[in-house]
Amino acid sequence: MQDRSEGDINLGGARAAWQRYYIDAETRALLEEDSRWFLHQALSTPCLNVVERSEGIYLIDSAGRRIMDFHGNTVHQVGYGHPRVVEAVMRQLATLPFSPRRYTNRAAIDLARRLAELAPGRLNKVLFAPGGTAAVGMALKLARYATGRHKTLSMWDAFHGASLDAISVGGEAIFRRDAGPLLPGTEHVPPPAMAARFFGEDGRAHERLADYIDYVLEVQGDVAAVIAEPVRWTTLEAPPADFWPRVRASCDRHGALLIFDEIPSCLGRTGTMFACEQFGCVPDMLVLGKGLGGGVFPMAALIARDDLDVAADRALGHYTHEKSSVGCAAALATLDVIRDENLLEQSRELGSYGLDALRRMRATRAVRGLGVSFGVEVESAAQAERVMYRCLGNGLSFKIGGGNVITLCPPLTITRAELDAAFAILDEALQNA
Ligand SMILES: Cc1ncc(COP(=O)(O)O)c(C=O)c1O
Repeated sequence: MQDRSEGDINLGGARAAWQRYYIDAETRALLEEDSRWFLHQALSTPCLNVVERSEGIYLIDSAGRRIMDFHGNTVHQVGYGHPRVVEAVMRQLATLPFSPRRYTNRAAIDLARRLAELAPGRLNKVLFAPGGTAAVGMALKLARYATGRHKTLSMWDAFHGASLDAISVGGEAIFRRDAGPLLPGTEHVPPPAMAARFFGEDGRAHERLADYIDYVLEVQGDVAAVIAEPVRWTTLEAPPADFWPRVRASCDRHGALLIFDEIPSCLGRTGTMFACEQFGCVPDMLVLGKGLGGGVFPMAALIARDDLDVAADRALGHYTHEKSSVGCAAALATLDVIRDENLLEQSRELGSYGLDALRRMRATRAVRGLGVSFGVEVESAAQAERVMYRCLGNGLSFKIGGGNVITLCPPLTITRAELDAAFAILDEALQNA
């Protein structure tokens, strides 16, 4: 049986039927070639289709079909190939294509300053990494150095990346099963999304979960950090408003640092630059990724409280691309686009417009939204999969999380007309799939 917590599965009848109908001989040959040369792994292989181009909200496949991309691994906050991002990258490629360690560069310095200025509270010391997982690893190491403790508390079902340290704090079986011994001292609690199952359905489950976290921190007494996604991104579920402030207070009480993994939600996806701004809670470390690179370049960042700058004689990251001039140029242009095109405002406006539209659709069990990111819960994983393949056939791509949640994450640059067109495809599929 395949675990569906992180995404839809790549095997099975629905996928095969879709491919028989939509994939032409030339594309099929490319997919076979892909399968011939790549190691196979869960969630990624075998691939669905071959993409040839991408622009704005669209992927264009090898048969020339235009597909609205509401998945995009959430890297496309400003859409694919935004002219300002492309121009910044091209300019940097022509002048400083790589910045070796030991040197710094203007783009890296400017980006660190911009992120520190944007991040709330005392979050104003930065390190970059070539991917979210690597940035999570730096956060975990810094927590050890800063506290002199090694234990962590995190959530079952959570995802923080695919490396051994990240899957140790992560909680998804598909990553952990058969991986052998993981990091010691990685304690887990049920995730907020499961609170009612374990702590009662009387509306006070999150309160009890927060109490339980406090209890675990107290009895352990030596936890370095709590690490969590403030909003579980696979299902777009945010806990009630008082949850994170309570966890924040428990961390302070028991000397643990709070690390928020905002890798998929950063840079405006939720209607604010960072999701934590909506939860009345500033973490001690914030981890960003994905959209930071403007949909072009692998970029991630750790932003830490300034007084956590305590490991000058240790290597926290030491990544070859730790101050990528090109990646930083892409990120700076992305921040400029978000500011100059009022994308935070647009995300909030389109978010409430979209949420209303989704609520009017039938055949849904629950609908959630945060900015222009939506979760549509349907009755079963089988239904979600039928809806997904019907939508894919009609030119709309999205991801399924938690088995039965359709997650819709378009670029923040999407127009109202494009959102309407996508939702018409979804509505039709919900009624007929
Ligand atoms: C919440 C979360 N954390 C960490 C990661 C890992 O980021 P990366 O794939 O850039 O290493 C992801 C990627 O999907 C994520 O969604």
